[in-house]
Amino acid sequence: MAEHTEANRQYFEKLAKSYKTDFQKGLEAICRQVDSRRSWISDIWTNTEAGNGKEIKMMEYACGPGAVSLTLAPFVSKVVGLDVSEGMVSEYNKNAQEAGFGDKMTALKGDLLAETIPEELPGPEYFDFDIVVVSMAFHHFERPDLAMARFGERLKKGGVCMVVDIVPASDDHHHHHHHQGPHRVEHGFGNAEHTVKSHGFTEEQMQQLYEGAGLTGFRYEVMDEQVVFHKEGKELIKTLFIARGQRV
Ligand SMILES: C[S@@+](CC[C@H](N)C(=O)[O-])C[C@H]1O[C@@H](n2cnc3c(N)ncnc32)[C@H](O)[C@@H]1O
Repeated sequence: MAEHTEANRQYFEKLAKSYKTDFQKGLEAICRQVDSRRSWISDIWTNTEAGNGKEIKMMEYACGPGAVSLTLAPFVSKVVGLDVSEGMVSEYNKNAQEAGFGDKMTALKGDLLAETIPEELPGPEYFDFDIVVVSMAFHHFERPDLAMARFGERLKKGGVCMVVDIVPASDDHHHHHHHQGPHRVEHGFGNAEHTVKSHGFTEEQMQQLYEGAGLTGFRYEVMDEQVVFHKEGKELIKTLFIARGQRV
């Protein structure tokens, strides 16, 4: 595992058990925003005309405890999670069971961003996806361009890659009037700084990533609610975006 990926693995391994509770508000906001844009993301879901009666396969990469997977699970046939942290994978599988999705939703430990991926891993079921989702992880990747290419390869023709991530503070003109209360507001990543490669992605940067991986039909929207993370007693306030592109 590359050094930077290993640093992420160690950091998130420690957070795995508390992540879902610590980031509950943020995750709820992300899930609301994703859910309300389902038809903007893709027209192939189990309850749409285009998807009706089809087997619809989804992968969540860097899945963590699986909040976004749980949101979209009702609208697909099968969901697989992948994450480099074993603890996150266990949390994902526990949450899938508890939500009653144990039969269609499972995660495995795996790294698709290594220079060479062992051919047998993570297995043939990790190809031919209708949708790949990656939430709050692109800013942790050493090479977002390589990541997007790897996700593109895993899609079937017409399949969609959806990304949720951070709008860089320098590009975030949207919501600064919120949260001007007594709290201390930080724009960095606190003690997670060493796991972070980028402080977010502008629309232009995302478009380049999608186009670089040969994905078309690019869309990018800034979410209309900000997300607050608590780290070391400080509030980290982020504006997030949701983007999508698809394989031709
Ligand atoms: C901020 S969490 C996001 C988790 C989840 N997607 C969500 O939205 O709540 C980042 C996750 O990315 C995983 N991760 C970081 N680098 C990774 C890599 N190179 N490959 C796979 N997973 C990675 C971490 O283990 C962690 O679970």
